[in-house]
Amino acid sequence: MKILVLNGPNLNLLGKREPEIYGSETFEDYFNNLVKKYADVELHYYQSNVEGELINKLHEVGFDFDGIIFNAGAYTHTSVAIGDAIKGITTPVIELHISNVHSREEFRHVSYISPVAKGVIAGFGMQSYELALQSFI
Ligand code: DQA
Repeated sequence: MKILVLNGPNLNLLGKREPEIYGSETFEDYFNNLVKKYADVELHYYQSNVEGELINKLHEVGFDFDGIIFNAGAYTHTSVAIGDAIKGITTPVIELHISNVHSREEFRHVSYISPVAKGVIAGFGMQSYELALQSFI
């Protein structure tokens, strides 16, 4: 089983960025543990702060991989282009948020990804990624 974890803007700062919301663990540390724990899954990881690079990655893996776990960060709330890219591929996408976006500012309640996602996981901290992975397994 081939799964891509795709992280969008500012998620390279996990561990340093607003730790009271996003925790103090770096994503690399968390991801390496996930790779070890789920050794029978082919887990890939890509992060970009650039909208077009995220879309290119969706196109690249979106007809071949078994699942994409996608935290699009703030692009979730703004990007028609990312929503269209997900609509255009065949690999199912789980929308993911570390924080519970519905308990935060109003602008975070809007998502261009939810209508085209297989499911949404939000609010379980870093564990959200493992929950998404388990759902694909
Ligand atoms: C986020 C929530 C978004 O609203 C925010 O812009 C992020 C991270 C989360 O994982 O909780 O960058 O996607």
